[in-house]
Amino acid sequence: MQVREQKIVLDHRRAAIHSFSPYLATFPDEIPRYVIQKYLPPAAMRKNCGGKKLILDPFCGSGTTLLVAAENNTKAIGLDYNPMAVMISNSKCQPLKREDYEAAGKLLDSIKSMNPEDSHGHMDVSINLKTVKYWFHSKVAEDLFHLRDTINSCRNEKVKNLALVVYAVTLRACSYAQNDTLSRARKTYAIIEASQVNAYKDFRGRFGKAVELKKKQELLVSDNMAIKGDSKNMIFDDGLFDGIITSPPYIANINYSAPFDLFYVFMGWKIDKKPFINGEREDKFFEGMKPTYREMHRVLKPDTTCVMVVGEREAEGTIRYMTDSGFTLDEKLFYDVKGGCRGFFHGKKRLKEFVLVFRKNAAA
Ligand SMILES: C[S@@+](CC[C@H](N)C(=O)[O-])C[C@H]1O[C@@H](n2cnc3c(N)ncnc32)[C@H](O)[C@@H]1O
Repeated sequence: MQVREQKIVLDHRRAAIHSFSPYLATFPDEIPRYVIQKYLPPAAMRKNCGGKKLILDPFCGSGTTLLVAAENNTKAIGLDYNPMAVMISNSKCQPLKREDYEAAGKLLDSIKSMNPEDSHGHMDVSINLKTVKYWFHSKVAEDLFHLRDTINSCRNEKVKNLALVVYAVTLRACSYAQNDTLSRARKTYAIIEASQVNAYKDFRGRFGKAVELKKKQELLVSDNMAIKGDSKNMIFDDGLFDGIITSPPYIANINYSAPFDLFYVFMGWKIDKKPFINGEREDKFFEGMKPTYREMHRVLKPDTTCVMVVGEREAEGTIRYMTDSGFTLDEKLFYDVKGGCRGFFHGKKRLKEFVLVFRKNAAA
């Protein structure tokens, strides 16, 4: 049966909380909100009021679905292969309590009293210094190592997590790295002299803002969380979830972890990039996605909804392969990408995104 395309109009808003850590290819908050309200109304609005529903985002990225779910009284678990995506999502979803704000205040105070003179000789020789010196002025690198060690010594895990997420942004801002995968505003290489960069000041400003955003978030209770994992091989039991909302990777070599590569070097983390679903060829891409479609079908309860947000280039293949995996297409919605989104397809603008609403049939 042919499903008619229907346009939805969005404001393209994202909550202010997302601003402390940029991420590639995020979707607007309105997408998960629209889906949850239409297909998974919150417990209080459901007839049987039988507890919260549990949804999954198997490519959770920066946690948009998880956060919107928390705001809509819905439980959600996210999965992402990129460890930074997990940290970012959790730092947004975990509500902070009075004692956490006190710990954040103490960390901020200790960094306020630090200045570039203190960090002399603070180079971490266990890390590949060639890489460090290629990307940073040596003096700035010393300050950044000092900052890292101060954050790592924070004993409040939630505050440490938030501070490390902010630190990753500071690292990039204080480096020679081209920034156009993070923000298209800065297009050229900027060779930054040590005298022009104060890593402590940069971090203090960003971290202070992140703490203020958390205070304004009004998220009192939420156990929504992200875990590191591969969507092709999920750890979840069969039929666990009441719904899926996700935006899988695009048919392009987008390296979602690239903006955080310097962070991984500074943390001494080895990142295995192999299981990322990526590729320039359509057939290869969908063959790579097949195990994920099957896994999504397995972990969903019968008669539930699976919403996939995909680009124009992925829509037809997604429908074909999802149908082969046992799903039925219920709705084919689309929205205009404001001004078009440049950069991912070799400069070609993306003008439309599809919101494909699938159903796992009751009989399945
Ligand atoms: C389009 S982004 C999702 C963005 C998200 N909707 C948001 O608003 O932030 C796709 C995500 O899929 C993740 N990813 C790619 N391959 C994966 C895999 N095999 N398993 C789990 N996550 C994967 C990437 O790390 C990336 O964060």
